[in-house]
Amino acid sequence: MPLHHLIYLSTPTIAFTPPQLRELLRECRANNAKHELTGVLFYGKQHFMQLIEGEEQEVHALYNHLQHDTRHDNLIKIADKPIQARAFADWSMAFQCLDAGTAEAGIQDLESVVLSLPALAAADALLLETVRQRLLAE
Ligand SMILES: Cc1cc2nc3c(=O)[nH]c(=O)nc-3n(C[C@H](O)[C@H](O)[C@H](O)COP(=O)(O)O)c2cc1C
Repeated sequence: MPLHHLIYLSTPTIAFTPPQLRELLRECRANNAKHELTGVLFYGKQHFMQLIEGEEQEVHALYNHLQHDTRHDNLIKIADKPIQARAFADWSMAFQCLDAGTAEAGIQDLESVVLSLPALAAADALLLETVRQRLLAE
């Protein structure tokens, strides 16, 4: 089955509390495992950035759901294409927070973000890193 990935940015519509972030993560883990989706989700006060990878139909089905989720809006798709291999082995360790202030949620802070994964094409790692730097600078 050909693999696909999609990267988007969005704006949170609410200020997520650590329990709300944990609840979102729990929801993502359960659903994504069922649909063999993997990836990474970054959260900052002003933005989400998410990379979703898996079978094309599953990736697009999730993106459709996401477009109707009122917890964020202004979705901007920045990548939507076939990939050779998954860059993220699972979802569970891949929730990264842009805001060190929510470290109490047990979410890794910015320093520990690793985007130079062997399976992530150099151009994609560069794209994610560039966007991440831009978001951090805001
Ligand atoms: C920023 C953000 C990222 C999300 N990421 C995922 C995800 O990776 N996987 C997932 O199943 N749901 C994710 N959700 C939740 C979905 O929008 C939706 O609530 C979930 O798929 C359950 O949908 P359902 O209640 O219609 O089954 C995310 C929501 C937000 C706001």
